[in-house]
Amino acid sequence: MPSEKSIYNPNPAISRDAYISSMAEYRKFYEESLENPEEFWMRVAKQFHWETPADPKKFLQYNFNISKGPISIKWMEGASTNICYNLLDRNVRNGLGDTIAYYWEGNHPDDYSRGLTYRKLLEEVCRFANVLKDHGVKKGDRVSIYMPMILELPIAMLACARIGAVHSIVFAGFSSDSLAERMFDCQAKVLITADGAWRGEKPLYLKALCDVALEKAEEMGHTVEKCIVVSHLKRVTACAEDHVEQDIPWTEDRDFWWHEEMEDKEPACYPEWMEAEDPLFMLYTSGSTGKPKGVLHTTAGYLLYAATTFKIVFDYKPGDIFWCTADIGWITGHTYVVYGPLANGATSVMFEGTPFYPDNDRFWAVIDKYKVTQFYTAPTAIRALMKFGEAPVLKHNLNGLKVLGSVGEPINPEAWLWFYRYIGKEKCSIVDTFWQTETGGHVITPIPGATPMKPGSASFPFFGVKPTLLDESGVEVKGEGEGYLVFSQPWPGMMRTLFGNHERFESTYFSKFPGFYCTGDGARRDADGYLWITGRVDDMLNVSGHLMSTAEVESVLTEHHRVAEAAVVSRPHAVKGECLYCFITPNENETFDAKLVSELKKLVRERIGPFAMPDVVQHAPGLPKTRSGKIMRRVLRKVALNDRNVGDISTLADESVVDQLFKNRPADK
Ligand code: WTA
Repeated sequence: MPSEKSIYNPNPAISRDAYISSMAEYRKFYEESLENPEEFWMRVAKQFHWETPADPKKFLQYNFNISKGPISIKWMEGASTNICYNLLDRNVRNGLGDTIAYYWEGNHPDDYSRGLTYRKLLEEVCRFANVLKDHGVKKGDRVSIYMPMILELPIAMLACARIGAVHSIVFAGFSSDSLAERMFDCQAKVLITADGAWRGEKPLYLKALCDVALEKAEEMGHTVEKCIVVSHLKRVTACAEDHVEQDIPWTEDRDFWWHEEMEDKEPACYPEWMEAEDPLFMLYTSGSTGKPKGVLHTTAGYLLYAATTFKIVFDYKPGDIFWCTADIGWITGHTYVVYGPLANGATSVMFEGTPFYPDNDRFWAVIDKYKVTQFYTAPTAIRALMKFGEAPVLKHNLNGLKVLGSVGEPINPEAWLWFYRYIGKEKCSIVDTFWQTETGGHVITPIPGATPMKPGSASFPFFGVKPTLLDESGVEVKGEGEGYLVFSQPWPGMMRTLFGNHERFESTYFSKFPGFYCTGDGARRDADGYLWITGRVDDMLNVSGHLMSTAEVESVLTEHHRVAEAAVVSRPHAVKGECLYCFITPNENETFDAKLVSELKKLVRERIGPFAMPDVVQHAPGLPKTRSGKIMRRVLRKVALNDRNVGDISTLADESVVDQLFKNRPADK
């Protein structure tokens, strides 16, 4: 078995041509980025267009210490620019007009595939920016987007950025309740969606779902004025044999077809010059209280950081073909399907489908088809694909690959090695990138030409990022050891606030340890200084790379009229990383039966989304509580694992509930 001691050096052929080709070089840049961040990022900024240049004296201003006043982070104050202009117009002007920005690959291999050049992308974005303007969308307005992985999605995002509207994308796997809640919270003016899409053999009727969400938002007291709908279903293959086409529900004067709106629009639109710290987008992430947090990113800093992390961490060179499998609905898709690659004039593959359709070799087929050079995916996908062995991989030529990336959760050494051996053929670098919606881009990651790799370690900080490990009382853990992972100075891509709630921003991320941004993750530093992310230290769990809070799920479960109390913990899962294990105390005189279990699962699906579906729902006549009424979750985690080694339970109000919980465990599947 691989151990922490196994070290895999980068392939010399990769190091030779890399932007950063040794640890010495990495350290030189890294030190400069900490000692003189202004100078470092000013150099990066030179490649972009600034309508008003930055004042070097005000390049970075911040307060990270809550005890000294409100938290604030400002990069390049006084500068103005437009991110869409930098991603598209600038690249076209630099001669990349005919370069492919995206190869689009549909859910079905026989679906039309489409290549979109930078010039064409710019035209489409301008036309859609004009559509938005005609519908009254102005600088600062919020636009919700709920779309499948189709090219209209980046077009819509960039059109928002062009006119200064703030996009708020909701992953299209979220339920209508979740969408409604998010549209209400950001007071969206417009919603952009598609009639539907196929996911493998399953049709998703997105517009119908949006209608429910629009109605719910209305009930909550907010009217979303317009809904623009891409007609997607008709242009792709119906993947289920018994499929019957459905009518798309429609509301006159509110709903508009994308293609009809685009028909007469000019393919040019003057960009809105934005202040460096004007909002670019918001993206909701789960919060430990259960209410989602609207993480807000701004313009200049995000551009610098997305562009630099993309270029350096994937070592992207002109001519390379980059593929990030993440859905744009998550931060990984924002930064590494859209903003990072386009800022570098890169060519990417955008994929609508799943790794398993029509067969379990789809990822490898797509890599082969487009001759992908950098492949960025999630550990959960690797673990799911490992199960099919090497045969599906061997059907395809993967020799073009140079860099393999992993994101979303810790990658276990077994999955790392499989990725390294069978996909990378022992010649690719693996970048295990640790970051968060909040960090905007990679913060702890190997650099492909430089970092000797240890399977399972995210290794070292990216430029500008200063990690510290703290113990519970806020004392720094130096050298080897484990603690809370925090950062002590701002990097350009970090979040600036939570939409409409700066107080929650300060209390969530800056109050536990004054002077530090707190990630909510734990980490361990080994004898060689490598960082190993150990997972969340709060009540959050990570199912297949999707972060959610136990409180969020508990509040859904207790909505059920037969439920008195619910407690949710995470349990390790071979493919998903973690899964949900729920304990339910029914109301007095209610019974716990299979019907209740299936109703509860359905409720979670409806309220949050299918990815949040619990694996186990167990009867808990009583929950293990301390005398002050706090649920002892570590005991529940032991019950979920069927591990009788529960430790000290002397502070429990009633110790006998523990035995009862073990007796009530459903048989493990
Ligand atoms: C986890 C995803 C270990 C972590 C970009 C973090 C990871 C949360 C890694 C953020 C990694 C992400 N190793 N853990 N390489 N990458 N995580 O906001 O717990 O969806 O806090 O952003 O995922 O999830 P989010």
